[in-house]
Amino acid sequence: MSNIKKVIKDKKTDLNPVWIMRQAGRYLPEFREIRKKNTDFIKLCLNSSLSAEITLQPLKRFDLDAAIIFSDILILPYGLKQKVEFKKNVGPILGDLNLDQAFEVTENDFIERVDPVYKTINLVRNNNLTKNKSTIGFVGAPWTLLVYILNKQSPKIKLKENFFKDFSSIEKTLKIIDKFLKVHIKNQIDSGAEIIQIFDSWAGLLEDKDYDFYIFNPTCSLVEFTKSLNVPVICFPRGIKDYKKYCEIVKPDAICIDYEVDPIKIEKEIKIPVQGGMDPKVLLTDKENLKREAIKYLDIFKDHPYIFNLGHGILPETDPSMMDYLVKTIKDY
Ligand code: CP3
Repeated sequence: MSNIKKVIKDKKTDLNPVWIMRQAGRYLPEFREIRKKNTDFIKLCLNSSLSAEITLQPLKRFDLDAAIIFSDILILPYGLKQKVEFKKNVGPILGDLNLDQAFEVTENDFIERVDPVYKTINLVRNNNLTKNKSTIGFVGAPWTLLVYILNKQSPKIKLKENFFKDFSSIEKTLKIIDKFLKVHIKNQIDSGAEIIQIFDSWAGLLEDKDYDFYIFNPTCSLVEFTKSLNVPVICFPRGIKDYKKYCEIVKPDAICIDYEVDPIKIEKEIKIPVQGGMDPKVLLTDKENLKREAIKYLDIFKDHPYIFNLGHGILPETDPSMMDYLVKTIKDY
C-alpha cells in the first residue's frame, strides 16, 4: 500500500508522506517548455502522452509520494460541450452552457470527449516512477464547478450580481454536475486513480445559510459515491469557516486545510487524517524560514495522521530549488 493510503486507512503517523497541489505546473521550466508549444490548455489536457509526461515531471525531480494527474476541474464543463478557454493573465473564460443541450449529453458522449484524461491516468499508473506511490485523480466540487459554469469566469474577477437569481437553472445545472462528476470519478478510478481529491476552491464565497444546499448535500453525494467504489476521498473546502462541522457532515476520508486556518485548532478538533496547510508564499522566502514553517506543521501533526501539502497550489514564481529543499526537509524529519 502507498504511504498516503497507509496514513488515510491505517492512520499511520510516522511516514510523513508529501505531495504538493499544482506540483505539475508553471514553476517548472520543463512544464513551461511544453506549455509554450501548446497554447491551447484544454487541448494539452487532452493530449495523453504529454499530460502523462507533465504529471511525472515533478516525480523525476523530487521524492514525492503521489502523482496528481495533469488535467483540470474545467474538463467537466468541456465534456458537457461548454466552451472553455484559458486566457493568459486572466484565467478561464467559458461560453454559455446550453442547458437543453447539456441534458442531451449522454454518458458515452461525455466519456468520448474526456477519454484522453483516462488514458493519461493509465499511462501514469503503469510508469515505473509511480511504483509504491499514489496516483491521485480529482474533480472540482459541485459548488466550485457551478460557479465557473454559470459565472463563466473566475469569481476573483467578478461574481455576477444576479448569480443566485435564476434558481431553476442552478438546480438543473447542479443535477447535471452531480451526474457527470460521478461518471468522471468512476472512470478515473477504473483507469487507475487510487485516491480522489475534491477541490472546492470557492467554498469561502458562501454564507452559512447556503452551506447545506451548495456544499454539504452535493459533496456528501460524491463522497458517498467514491467511498462505495472503495477509494479514499480527500476534500479541500478552501476558505470554509468551520472545518470541523464540514468533516462531521461530509465525512471525507481525509481533509485538506487552507493556509488561513490555525493548524493547532484543527489538530485538536478534527479526528480524521489531515493534509496540507502551509502557506505557498513561504516558498518565496528563504530556506531557513521554509524549514521552520514546514517543521512547524510536522510538529503540530506529529501524532496525527498527516499528509504534507500546502494550503493552496504552489505559486508559479516558486524556485524549484525551494521545492527540492522542502521535500528533503520533510523526508529528513
Ligand atoms: O499539479 C496539479 O495539481 C494537477 C493539475 C491541476 C491543474 N488544475 C492544472 C492547471 C489541478 C489539480 C487543477 C485544479 C483546478 N483548476 C482548480 C482547483 C484548485 C485551485 O487552484 O483552487 C481550479 C479552481 C482550476 C481552474 C483553473 N485552472 C484556473 C482558475 C486556472 C487559471 C489560474 C491559474 O492558476 O493559472 C487554471 C489553469 C491551470 N490548471 C494551470 C495548471 C497547471 C496553469 C495553466 C497555464 O497557464 O500554464
